[in-house]
Amino acid sequence: MRSIRRIVLTAVVCAAAVAAFAAEPDADKPKPLDGKALFKTSCKVCHDTKAAAGEYTPMTLIQEQWEEFFTGPYAEVHGQVAAPAAADKPEQAALKVTDVIDEATLEAIRKFCVDHAADSEQPMTCG
Ligand code: HEC
Repeated sequence: MRSIRRIVLTAVVCAAAVAAFAAEPDADKPKPLDGKALFKTSCKVCHDTKAAAGEYTPMTLIQEQWEEFFTGPYAEVHGQVAAPAAADKPEQAALKVTDVIDEATLEAIRKFCVDHAADSEQPMTCG
């Protein structure tokens, strides 16, 4: 009798563990940020074809130019430019592009631009 109860109990515990695991497979693993998707949502909004601010895709510049851009000009220029959300949210009117793109996001975008620059092995526009 005792061993049957033990088997049932073990089965129940295992089933619960499997269910919990299946529900959240990578719950505690941080997902790597998708630079391409972030470029689309954070940069392309202002730098699409015919954009007033100029069209920029990773292959607009070479790797060295991107590296240089992200070390200085990015913050200088975009610290003066109102964030896209400001247009329809008056309470965010003071926010600049540099306020709404966090460090990890910017790093993922930087990597995407450098990895797919005009002189990279896989030059890319952004979809
Ligand atoms: C809210 C609009 C907006 C967003 C979002 C935005 N930019 Fe810009 N960007 C601008 C404006 C405005 C300029 C200045 C254009 C000019 O000087 O004529 C600019 C300039 C640039 C330049 C040229 C800088 C130079 O030194 O001449 C590059 C490259 C650039 N942006 C890349 C990006 C990247 C990469 C992102 C995303 C991380 C981004 N931008 C996000 C508006 C934006």
